[in-house]
Amino acid sequence: MAIRDIVKVGDEILRKTSKEVLTFDEKLSDLIDDMFDTLRKAEGAGLAAPQVGILKRVVVIDIGEGPVEMVNPTIISQGPLVCVDEGCLSVPGRSGKVMRPKSLKVEAFDRHGNKKIYSAKGYFAQAVSHEVDHLDGVLYIDKEVSAQDCAAAR
Ligand code: CO
Repeated sequence: MAIRDIVKVGDEILRKTSKEVLTFDEKLSDLIDDMFDTLRKAEGAGLAAPQVGILKRVVVIDIGEGPVEMVNPTIISQGPLVCVDEGCLSVPGRSGKVMRPKSLKVEAFDRHGNKKIYSAKGYFAQAVSHEVDHLDGVLYIDKEVSAQDCAAAR
């Protein structure tokens, strides 16, 4: 296990589309362990593989309710959007307001290839939406809304 460097905004890799994981092997397991170590060290809530320079569809989330790993996550349904405050480990020292689904259902695999379905609400739903965006090269700064629009959507 190891701490990996977190790629910062401006690096092209954050803008690329990550590839689906096809092989559930030791290398994937090591990546996920390293991502959890890196997330804890950075005291973040979530991390996507492209943020450590790996273009694979892998995210880890820990919002204080235990670690969750998602390989090849697919959001299959989502509730209405709400305005939330958000930051990102790849965009240090700032935060902004974005619209995120209040709830969502996501299908994903664990490191062993077992399929799971999560019903996420609140901060967990926000984190899933944020991390899945990373896999498609999208950062929260791309979708920021004004304080006025946010207040109307709280
Ligand atoms: Co982020």
